[in-house]
Amino acid sequence: MDKVRIGIAGMGNMGQYHANYLMKGEVARAELTAVCSTSPHKLTSYEDKVQIFSDAEAMIRSGSIDAILIATPHYQHTSLGIAAIEQGIHLMVEKPISAHKADAERLIAVAEKHPEIIFGGMFQLRTEPRYLKLKQLIASGELGEIVRMNWIITDWYRTEAYYASGGWRATWKGEGGGVLLNQCLHQLDALQWMIGMPKRVRGFAQLGRFHDIEVEDNVTAYLEYPNGATGVFISSTGEAPGSNRLELAGTRGKVVLENDRIAFTRNESCMLEHSRTSSIGFSKPEVWDVTIPFGNATLPHAILMRNFVEAILDGSPLIAPGKEGIHSVELANVLLYSSLVDQSIDMPMDSKAFEDKLQQLIANSTHEKKVVEISGEDFASSFNR
Ligand SMILES: NC(=O)c1ccc[n+]([C@@H]2O[C@H](COP(=O)([O-])OP(=O)(O)OC[C@H]3O[C@@H](n4cnc5c(N)ncnc54)[C@H](O)[C@@H]3O)[C@@H](O)[C@H]2O)c1
Repeated sequence: MDKVRIGIAGMGNMGQYHANYLMKGEVARAELTAVCSTSPHKLTSYEDKVQIFSDAEAMIRSGSIDAILIATPHYQHTSLGIAAIEQGIHLMVEKPISAHKADAERLIAVAEKHPEIIFGGMFQLRTEPRYLKLKQLIASGELGEIVRMNWIITDWYRTEAYYASGGWRATWKGEGGGVLLNQCLHQLDALQWMIGMPKRVRGFAQLGRFHDIEVEDNVTAYLEYPNGATGVFISSTGEAPGSNRLELAGTRGKVVLENDRIAFTRNESCMLEHSRTSSIGFSKPEVWDVTIPFGNATLPHAILMRNFVEAILDGSPLIAPGKEGIHSVELANVLLYSSLVDQSIDMPMDSKAFEDKLQQLIANSTHEKKVVEISGEDFASSFNR
């Protein structure tokens, strides 16, 4: 194979966005050959360009694609992902890789039986220089051992019109969660990619606090890490203007990412060592103030697709292996679950217990959804967090 034939399942906002850069040739050695959607009107503009399918399983079996990009609502990620892998089709799945952890385990179990299939997850923040620089700062030991994390990511503001734009959105049955599973899942992935998973969490999630929805749209959570580091993660889709401030404190300094700036305040000596050895009660380690420069990735989704194609054709390592997507799903699930059962939860969480809880929420749902189609023209402006 010298070119990867790609089919997209789900031609809503995200499917169309991916189709657009693929058709412009932004991913060398890839060709968009098919698209599929259960909404026929989303397909008309592609009729004379690629093959059209109304059924994703038919596209998977068609022989017209080598790889699939799944951009459907969350629950279909698992079923279509499994169907694709079993048909020998390489898989790139939009975030979250599944609607809940038990489904992610099912998808990964099938992927592990087929190691010849490349399985990637669309976690484009991993291509952004600001997160790559933070990851490098942590991994190199420059920041010392992490002792505290605070991420306030409340600039995921969404209107009622957004929630009304799809029948699946913000419902237990269609989406499986709210701001944790959808919007700030990107930050949850970046967080665990940079500093690993917590060992215990306590979440406080408000359901429909700012919107007429049944799922969470406002969350404050406490996280505790294996080395004793503590963290607070705050997210919301109802707060405007909102904040995006990530602060990491380590034994060798503190780094803050906010307003397109990384400010690193570097301790000249380890703060623990200073505390043990200083004879002065109120002294602190001296600091250097450093601004770490960075640019923004150009078309970050296309960078991940290029990497996916290179993994298929050349065996290159994936930037965002699909199986790593289980961590962000688990974090989204556990922060919500902890709130629903009003308890701290030890990690790893019991995926069956959460699945049962979700089924209960679905069965007891009385919320009525009014669907109103809206313009998706400003959709891409929401990417850069
Ligand atoms: N990576 C990112 O930056 C990013 C941004 C937005 C959305 N997303 C993700 O992309 C996915 C889609 O979100 P969206 O905003 O485009 O939703 P959307 O509602 O705009 O589009 C979903 C489309 O999927 C179609 N669909 C539903 N079931 C299907 C099936 N079985 N087969 C084929 N098509 C089917 C629907 O008809 C709809 O057109 C979600 O997983 C979402 O979390 C990712």
